[in-house]
Amino acid sequence: MTQVLSVASECAPLVKTGGLADVTGALPGAMAALGVRMRTLLPGYPAVMRALGDAAEVMADPDLFGGPARVLAAKVAGLEMLVLDAPHLYARDGSIYLGPDGRDWPDNPERFAALSWVAARIGVEGVAGWTPDVIHAHDWQAGFVPDYLHIMGGTGRTGTILTIHNIAFHGLADPGKLATLRLKPARYTSDGFEFWGRISALKAGLMGADRLTTVSPTYAAELMRDEFGMGLDGVMRHRRAHLTGILNGIDEDAWNAATDPAITTYTTPAGKAANKAALRAAFGLPDARGPLCVVISRLTEQKGLDLLLDALPGMLAQGAQLALLGSGDPALEDAFRNAARDSNVAVRIGYDEALSHRMIAGGDAILVPSRFEPCGLTQLYGLRYGTIPLVALTGGLADTVIHASPAALGVGVATGVQFHPVTAEALRGALDQLCRLYADAPTWAAMQANAMRQPVGWAQSAAAYAQLYRDVTPAT
Ligand code: ADP
Ligand code: GLC
Repeated sequence: MTQVLSVASECAPLVKTGGLADVTGALPGAMAALGVRMRTLLPGYPAVMRALGDAAEVMADPDLFGGPARVLAAKVAGLEMLVLDAPHLYARDGSIYLGPDGRDWPDNPERFAALSWVAARIGVEGVAGWTPDVIHAHDWQAGFVPDYLHIMGGTGRTGTILTIHNIAFHGLADPGKLATLRLKPARYTSDGFEFWGRISALKAGLMGADRLTTVSPTYAAELMRDEFGMGLDGVMRHRRAHLTGILNGIDEDAWNAATDPAITTYTTPAGKAANKAALRAAFGLPDARGPLCVVISRLTEQKGLDLLLDALPGMLAQGAQLALLGSGDPALEDAFRNAARDSNVAVRIGYDEALSHRMIAGGDAILVPSRFEPCGLTQLYGLRYGTIPLVALTGGLADTVIHASPAALGVGVATGVQFHPVTAEALRGALDQLCRLYADAPTWAAMQANAMRQPVGWAQSAAAYAQLYRDVTPAT
């Protein structure tokens, strides 16, 4: 049995701001069947501390980056959690990343360096008789794990993997923090974690981990190009032999239209009708001749929803409707609130898990016009629920949707619509195509059936991770 410590800043259902949490929350369950025992190290934010039932203290540290800390072991929601209780770092209300002013907490470098430090300690010392063979670090928040392992003498005894969920976030710190972050000044070079005169936690992980993965094969290839690498494309090219793209899956129990408690359950596309009627009623949308399109998203530059605002009038002119659930950038929130003055546009600003299920079940199509998308999960929910994805041809969106080209329609395998380049003009064209496909009822029904048949679970990817864990497990 391979023993793996997963280290992340989010993990569903305990704490989530995006898909990272879904993935770290689902991976342990998916790996269990393959002979991998995975425990997850997570910061003890207030919500996490509240969710802990009976927990055992398995490690203590009187001075973890400025205050006392301990690691608590507990089983929560079926997950074997190791929670880093460090009140001076995590006992704060509000966002896990941002202070009340909407900016990163100024001590974010220390907050997540501490997480990585404790992960490395667990790698070297073990907790309560358990020692991981492999540490699987996620994103910049766990980026210093290889450096700390090295400092603690654990290199070669613990394998390391870093998964890039989003290369846009680098975890930068001022070089004046080298000592505070307990980093080796000798590693502050371009071959180490120096990035344009700053310390980069992500680059530390990219340079230091035995193997790198990202969450789709296409994003793995994109990362080596300057349009997508966010300044780290050279590093990615340097490490290309150690980089693989492994697609995310989704939780097929939580996203099962036949059993979903939030919706009127169904097993064939016809069963969507009741959900569509309920969704229209809930959103106050009238009947319409075109498709009811849904969006469930963080409202940020990445997601390309400003392009949707540009394409909206054309889409509405064809009888389509839009229902959007999201939050983020205040300017985008306002723009969508304004757009909702049209009776065929409904907007909910906020975060609502149950509503997201009702929208996927009730929508005809789900729109994901992202400028870049490492994997993307909502298009996978759409496929599973027979809700046709219209997506930008990038990252995981390129890898999971079969575009309704004449060829794909000809052999009956299309599951959605893709557009490229990621511009408002190309999006308009794709929306036109979506409306034409929707008007052709037999073709639409065939695409829905194809979508619902497409595998979107973890089976294949879990096997790929299991192989990778074996590959990096040091020989004993
Ligand atoms: P990202 O991680 O970049 O935000 P993903 O598509 O990988 O994108 O994952 C987003 C996750 O967050 C999905 O599970 C999606 O359903 C969920 N989500 C995003 N915004 C909302 C919202 N406003 N309400 C409910 N769920 C949301
Ligand atoms: C990131 C990416 C998203 C991906 C998720 C989980 O948040 O933006 O595309 O699905 O991580 O890997």
